[in-house]
Amino acid sequence: LDLDHFDHGVVRIQPEGWLYPGTAPIYLDRLYNMEFRSDDVIVKTFPKCGTTWMQEIVWTMLHNPNLDNPKGDEFLWIRSEDISLDMMFDLKLLKGQPPNSYLKKFNEACPGKKWEEGLSLQLAEVAKSPRVLKSHFYLSLYPDDILDRIKVVYVARNPKDMIISYFYFYEALKPFPMVSTMEDTQKRLIDGQILYGQYWSHVKQAWQKRHHPNLHFVFYEDMKADIMSELRKLNEFLGTQLSEEKLEAIAQYTSFSSMKARGEPLQDDVFHKENKRDVTFFRKGKTGDWKNHFTPELQKKMDHWIKENIADTDLNLKWAL
Ligand code: A3P
Repeated sequence: LDLDHFDHGVVRIQPEGWLYPGTAPIYLDRLYNMEFRSDDVIVKTFPKCGTTWMQEIVWTMLHNPNLDNPKGDEFLWIRSEDISLDMMFDLKLLKGQPPNSYLKKFNEACPGKKWEEGLSLQLAEVAKSPRVLKSHFYLSLYPDDILDRIKVVYVARNPKDMIISYFYFYEALKPFPMVSTMEDTQKRLIDGQILYGQYWSHVKQAWQKRHHPNLHFVFYEDMKADIMSELRKLNEFLGTQLSEEKLEAIAQYTSFSSMKARGEPLQDDVFHKENKRDVTFFRKGKTGDWKNHFTPELQKKMDHWIKENIADTDLNLKWAL
């Protein structure tokens, strides 16, 4: 990989120009060589596009269809590994160490192992099948035949709502906020200067593969508009054969208010509970909140950027419900 190095341990992977933490190449290499199981499902997204919602849905459909599995009460990140997370621990601002809650979990689940060799990847190794893995990595960073081996659910969300959610989330991250101001964050999205790469290439890579039988492409906005119809499609894709009644119950169980009531998916040492804006992980869960968050100038810039990038695709994003 051709890399440019920046402050805080951030690198830019060339020629694509994607920004990643400095250890990303090590973890990408490990990921490339990871032993997938034929019943694995990866929930893949650009950050803040509805990953957690989809993870909870897929995990529940596969492991808790009757809503009586006591494991369902555990933190989602314990049940569903984020295999793109390890590289984040290297960021100098994180002091080169995972938060204590992650280390504790790792030490319990993987006695005698070293987290430096890939905390999340090693946790994924001991996870029960069928694994529901989470990843923000580009599809192209996996082996070429990944879709012939496992199932991938890709969730896309319109970039205006995504970047608002991104700003509030990363601003509230402990022990370091990864963003400065809302305007700067919006500009960085347009310039392809946010971590995990560039929004359009990420989404388009998956969109191009949407007809592959092992890739299920979903829009966050469609889930908001009609969750039952999306659950029926997932039921088919995952082969779970759940009744309408069970799907109805899962829709309720994974609704924004139910998930929020069950508690935060991140522990206190990762996310400021009482951050300056009093943001929780389950912030608004809406489509169209972007309307409250753009200056006219940035709105114009963003619309231009969207128009430019959407011209060569039939990707049909939704901006409001
Ligand atoms: P907002 O910040 O706009 O509220 P991710 O899981 O990819 O980090 O995405 C987080 C976004 O999904 C947040 O958006 C969060 O509120 C929203 N979200 C989480 N669970 C949801 C649910 N059950 N229904 C709708 N939106 C949900």
